[in-house]
Amino acid sequence: MASISIKKESNIVLALDFPYEKPDNREQLFRKAEHVIDTVHPYICAVKFNHHLVLPLGTFDGVQKLVKKAHDLGLMAIMDCKVNDIGSTNQVIAEYYYAAGFDALIANPFIGWEEGLKPIFDVARRLERGVILLVYMSHKAANEGYGQTVIDAETNQKTLQYILFSKKALKFNADGVVVGATYPDKIREVHEVLGEKIPIYSPGIGTQGGTAEKALKAGARYLIVGREITLARNPAEAVKRFQTSIKYVR
Ligand code: XMP
Repeated sequence: MASISIKKESNIVLALDFPYEKPDNREQLFRKAEHVIDTVHPYICAVKFNHHLVLPLGTFDGVQKLVKKAHDLGLMAIMDCKVNDIGSTNQVIAEYYYAAGFDALIANPFIGWEEGLKPIFDVARRLERGVILLVYMSHKAANEGYGQTVIDAETNQKTLQYILFSKKALKFNADGVVVGATYPDKIREVHEVLGEKIPIYSPGIGTQGGTAEKALKAGARYLIVGREITLARNPAEAVKRFQTSIKYVR
């Protein structure tokens, strides 16, 4: 990811998200997604896909073609599937998404290591792909889960869930963590734990209220941006404006 970001001179990950379309309009949705990638690819380093595009387009019928397009244009492809099940299921999920060409997928550390995350990391390491862990989500209620005070089973000390997840990300050698841009203070705290060893991906910019400047200053490496770009009348202009505004931060 780092080398592509340097080559493309961009740290923007496009979240390829669109509003609900009737299932009959799948072809139109596919063309819209293709058009956005075609027009914004010079200004981004990766495309992030979500379930709400995989559901209408299908993994191998539609999304795989968009992943290939992203790769042909020199971009990485991330699957934001927030894997959250038992190990045997997670392993199959990971196999399918990596088979569709994804370079990395996002998983939820609440499931723990044994029979949770480990099977995902095992598949990822065999195929030389990445696993990115959720550490603090961008939405309002994130504190109800990721912000809880918990007891660290290793030290028996009270700690915050997201700090523990950050330490686990280091222990598991994760390829990235996600911390919402809506919480720059949390980005700073997580960055203090991770240093430059693991990059922070930060969603929640614009539509959700976070700002790129604050996220970057706090320690985020990559900015995940969706609707500000995909819903703009001119997505290329939107992403260009965005890139200019953050050029000199950090
Ligand atoms: P917008 O339109 O708000 O889209 O720029 C943000 C994108 O990022 C996803 N998202 C998250 N993904 N952890 C994640 O892994 C988060 O905390 C998080 N918050 C938002 C969201 O699904 C959308 O694709």
